[in-house]
Amino acid sequence: MMGNFLSEELIDEIKDANEIVDVISQYIQVKKVGSSYKALCPFHNEKTPSFFINQEKQFYKCFGCGEGGNVINFIMKMESLSFIESIKLLARRANIEIGMTGTSEEIRKQIKEKELCYEINKKAGLYFYGNLRKQPNPALKYLLGRGIISKTLANFGLGYSVNSWDNLMLHLQKEGYSLDDIQKCGLIRQNKSNGYYDYFRNRIMFPIFNTRGDIVGFGGRVIDDSMPKYLNSPETQVFNKSNILYGLNFARKNIKDRQIILVEGYMDVIALHQAGFKNAVASLGTSLTGYQGKLLKKYCDEIIICFDGDEAGEKATMRSLDTLDEAGCQFRIMILPDKKDPDDFIKIYGRNKFREHIDKSMSLIDYKIFLAKIRYFGNTIEDKVRFAKKVSDIIKDIESPIEREAYIEKVANETGISKESIGLEVLDKIKNVSVHRNNFKNNLNYRKYNNYIKMVPLVERKGHIIAEKQLIKFMIIDNKLIEHILNDISAEDFSVAEHREIVAYLASNMDNMKDKRIEELFPHLEENINKILSTDIEYIDLNNTLDKYIVNLKKYKLLYNIKILEEEQHSIINNLNLTKEEVESRLLNIGIEIMKKNAQIQKLKA
Ligand code: UTP
Ligand code: MN
Repeated sequence: MMGNFLSEELIDEIKDANEIVDVISQYIQVKKVGSSYKALCPFHNEKTPSFFINQEKQFYKCFGCGEGGNVINFIMKMESLSFIESIKLLARRANIEIGMTGTSEEIRKQIKEKELCYEINKKAGLYFYGNLRKQPNPALKYLLGRGIISKTLANFGLGYSVNSWDNLMLHLQKEGYSLDDIQKCGLIRQNKSNGYYDYFRNRIMFPIFNTRGDIVGFGGRVIDDSMPKYLNSPETQVFNKSNILYGLNFARKNIKDRQIILVEGYMDVIALHQAGFKNAVASLGTSLTGYQGKLLKKYCDEIIICFDGDEAGEKATMRSLDTLDEAGCQFRIMILPDKKDPDDFIKIYGRNKFREHIDKSMSLIDYKIFLAKIRYFGNTIEDKVRFAKKVSDIIKDIESPIEREAYIEKVANETGISKESIGLEVLDKIKNVSVHRNNFKNNLNYRKYNNYIKMVPLVERKGHIIAEKQLIKFMIIDNKLIEHILNDISAEDFSVAEHREIVAYLASNMDNMKDKRIEELFPHLEENINKILSTDIEYIDLNNTLDKYIVNLKKYKLLYNIKILEEEQHSIINNLNLTKEEVESRLLNIGIEIMKKNAQIQKLKA
């Protein structure tokens, strides 16, 4: 009976949050032996341990008395608690809200109430369903008119709440339910004079099922243009909009390739199922919640987000991405043309075209570039620059350098801006680009990256390139200076990519530079190195001169960081997904960063 009220998902979540070795270690002393754990069995008397915990499989077993099971079984036995009480204890231990508190007596009462609620909802659902079958009625006409076939109506249990204030109420009372219980299901409401009336009137009724197939609530759609278009059940003890996905109870049995299509509306789910895409689910008109993300993750490996092709859909898409990402879901984004929703699209273009769009669905990066193109791409130079900058910002997040290069090439082709410049823009947006001394050699990304970065300064600052060259020259000519100079700055402080490459090399080889001819090691940089070696600057005091160059580099770097921060401020101002408060608080934070950097610059001068 237990599985009845606590969803399997919740039980799994609670199990996952209570690592079995941790839990058992709170009761008895556990020793690690090889890959498993061993203890004296708490359930029978013994002198040599025969109680084992398998951490990987998260269960325990005593070979002495035969006792065994998962973490919940352990607590039941150890604390002499019922299943529910054990779950409660473990939930509390992991700070998981299970929506039930109190003594076991109270819990039993809550379970009973929930079950009654499912029962009443089911009766109501059947009643609505019957109404839809009574000819003639405007709801059936409407649904058939929208191309929903009779079989689909039955599959989804669609119904009709007739145009009356007490129709359902009287029916449920006749079935023996009290007004109080009916109200607890959100099916009736109390008016000012304490009379009751039906909550859903003259609406097409969509029963909302949990994954076990209980009706937890309803959505009701008007048949005309009145408002609100959809009315959902109020929150009840079994209905919480943010924990449910419409259609998941059907979709879960039809998930091929571990893929789920996430849409916005009831009608989208229904239209897609009817067209053969039986893996479609919808959130109920709210942004996706973390709970829903985890629920999706449980049933699939990849989510195809297919929200309406309008601006609201685009915003909803952006909002759901973080949630899905946090839940650890893989996803792709599908774009529908002409502001269509999936239901409209299928009706106009058919299922094959929809399938094609699924196949064309985009990765997050593609999607962001796609949006940037819509917003920023144009024919003027300024447009192209803006677009390229925007896209560089997107590309910098790609981890794989190969992928990064492919995108850079693509954008270069689209804008006519050289891939070197875009690459440079990207590189300079990458924070922590540079590589620390020791792992430089292994860092192929970095090397690969360097190949198309040309020697172009970013923030013009007189003398800093010369300073970089001079420092390198000193290090090449006198290897002892490598350590001295790199005490103060590292490869990443050099602004020119080639310089960074050389300095990183010097850093990792400072102890055995003697027999090395640096030009030979960097054939592609030979010209550069020759230039470096041939620039000559007179100096009197070596230390003083080195310090001056080092300060120069540090200052340049700080200025450059400030420039990035300023750009970030611009992109925040242009980010339509942020609220006014978010914009202000982010701008303020960055402002503080900029002030700190300025202060550091002041210090350098002293
Ligand atoms: P849509 O307006 O896109 O609805 O809202 P739809 O599903 O395409 O419906 P049709 O095609 O006009 O019949 C998307 C979802 O937002 C929620 C509902 O869950 C709806 O399916 N919604 C919308 C509400 O909860 N209340 C509303 O008033 C409108
Ligand atoms: Mn629609």
